[in-house]
Amino acid sequence: MTYFTKSAEETERVGYGLAERLDKAKKGRAFIAMRGEMGVGKTAFTRGFADYFGISGVKSPTYTIVNEHRGRANLYHFDMYRIADGDDLYSIGYDDYVEAEGYCIAEWSENIEEDIPEGAIFVTISRIDGKEGERRIEINEDISI
Ligand SMILES: Nc1ncnc2c1ncn2[C@@H]1O[C@H](COP(=O)(O)OP(=O)(O)O)[C@@H](O)[C@H]1O
Ligand SMILES: [Mg+2]
Repeated sequence: MTYFTKSAEETERVGYGLAERLDKAKKGRAFIAMRGEMGVGKTAFTRGFADYFGISGVKSPTYTIVNEHRGRANLYHFDMYRIADGDDLYSIGYDDYVEAEGYCIAEWSENIEEDIPEGAIFVTISRIDGKEGERRIEINEDISI
């Protein structure tokens, strides 16, 4: 699915919608791999996703790598910007998060390509040339499985 948004709030709504579809499909867990450059709206999308589960206070976890949130579902919010290799991932306990009940959402998943679990949902956000404040959001999801 492709969405076009004109504000951070609209991007949040797209994130909210994905959370709602996963929840209604009774997917108790999923790995959401986000792609897109700095300032494109990955954290905004995550904020909306979290909001669906009653979670607030989502911030870019750039310095902590992962923020854990508890709401109607667990949400593990990663920022892989500083991850250079598998050792870095190992040191944050990545494998345990991936296997945990709940949702993982990873900003800068470009940096962990090899370690993205099978069945992940890819969310790619890009700017639209010459249009400040507009974004294209591509969600590659197969909720049927
Ligand atoms: N359509 C849009 N969707 C998302 N963010 C937008 C949009 N238009 C403008 N923005 C702005 O872009 C910035 C996105 O920030 P953020 O979500 O932190 O990006 P990222 O996590 O990708 O670095 C915010 O300042 C937001 O207000
Ligand atoms: Mg961010």
